[in-house]
Amino acid sequence: MGESLGIGLLGLGVVGRGVLEALQSNAQAYQARCGRQLEIRAAAVRNVAARADLESSGLAISDDPMGISTRDDVDIVVELMGGEEPAADCIEAALSAGKSVVTANKEVMAKRGPTLLDLAEARAAELRYEASVGGGIPIIGVLQRDLQANDVSSIRAIINGTTNYMITAMSRDGMSYDDALAEAQRLGYAEADPTSDVDGIDAAYKLAILASLAFHSQVGPGDVHRDGIRTLTARDFAHARDLGYTIRMLATARQTPMGLDLRVHPTLVPTEDPMAGVEGVLNAVAVSGDLIGSVVLEGPGAGAGATSSAVVADILEVAGRLASRQSARPLPPIDQSPVFASLADICVRTYLRLEVPDRAGVLAELGAVFAAEGVSIASVLQTPHPEQSQSADLIVTTHACSDGAIDRVLDRLQRSDSVIELGVRLRIEDGCDND
Ligand SMILES: NC(=O)c1ccc[n+]([C@@H]2O[C@H](COP(=O)([O-])OP(=O)(O)OC[C@H]3O[C@@H](n4cnc5c(N)ncnc54)[C@H](OP(=O)(O)O)[C@@H]3O)[C@@H](O)[C@H]2O)c1
Repeated sequence: MGESLGIGLLGLGVVGRGVLEALQSNAQAYQARCGRQLEIRAAAVRNVAARADLESSGLAISDDPMGISTRDDVDIVVELMGGEEPAADCIEAALSAGKSVVTANKEVMAKRGPTLLDLAEARAAELRYEASVGGGIPIIGVLQRDLQANDVSSIRAIINGTTNYMITAMSRDGMSYDDALAEAQRLGYAEADPTSDVDGIDAAYKLAILASLAFHSQVGPGDVHRDGIRTLTARDFAHARDLGYTIRMLATARQTPMGLDLRVHPTLVPTEDPMAGVEGVLNAVAVSGDLIGSVVLEGPGAGAGATSSAVVADILEVAGRLASRQSARPLPPIDQSPVFASLADICVRTYLRLEVPDRAGVLAELGAVFAAEGVSIASVLQTPHPEQSQSADLIVTTHACSDGAIDRVLDRLQRSDSVIELGVRLRIEDGCDND
């Protein structure tokens, strides 16, 4: 065995502690697997005083992640701080110094991944990010390596455990959005500020990373259309069930003749769809390719153990390469300016919940609005409004039409006396063939 490899650990939170524990308790096995002893030379946190327990165990802890990223005795920087800065600067500094980096940071990889990957290649270093999407699910390696013989046509994924937990609770237990959020926060599944999760920001980061790999294209979070789950009610889950569907916060990326179609939004999926069975904090990713057909990976998308599994695997991969003095694999070329489809042109089926006045003639008035935009109604269900005795909930599903036609219908309805409030607009997955 050669001399040991130095690890610099940036962050000792949920994941950082998990990685530290795994590296410490499995040191011998990991040494045998990668051919070198892995030695944690330093770790960074924000609040050093709160980590006196770890310092007393001999671990050098500082609040200077940049200093650790450029230390001479650190060979692999493991970035587990989260957020864009200082994480991205530390990764850049480490790569510039020729060190390899392992990160779980989806925000950095979604926003700055292509530049950082180019930098890594230029410095003959490696940047690995398996844990940035799907926690413990090994989807990055699958796309980079195992499915590379395929022309990937689509990805469908549940990649945000917080919203999936909330949606499952609303669907199964009839909970309100607020109660489901409070429960997710109490259990540690949602942050005090849940914006990134419930508005689809987190899932859009992850989808951008997956789409970049699957389609060999430069995709950023701004290229992903996203709607959040704040407007969903328990009634929507009951109505969806009556129609034969389950609601899921689905992230989809597809190649279409109009360009890449990238979306994160709550979606009605048929109850027999494998995604409908993905419950709680679980994540799942389905990839369709010309050779494989379809493959689905499902598992824990977060948590110290599951995420450490992916982070440590990346560390071992880099360490094995350094130990055997192999150079990193060259990056495949990517399309720097791919064409993106406009959502308005995408063909979808739609579910609308409208609050309407409970009076004669409303249905005919609404029917005329849909007809004026050439949108064909598939079903209409009227139920009493739970709070307003003078109004009713109207659930309308449409046949497949362009998403833009639905925009125009909603614009007209907004200005119509026949609608009190536009409640929710959801896309239905079995829309039509855009391929
Ligand atoms: N949690 C999961 O299950 C999970 C799953 C997949 C991916 N990830 C990703 O993994 C990364 C880490 O997540 P986490 O849940 O472990 O976060 P966390 O619990 O909030 O821990 C973050 C750690 O980074 C340290 N830190 C933050 N900013 C710092 C700074 N400027 N200087 C020095 N140290 C700093 C914090 O120090 P203090 O301890 O002093 O606050 C803390 O130790 C994120 O990119 C996240 O998206 C997490």
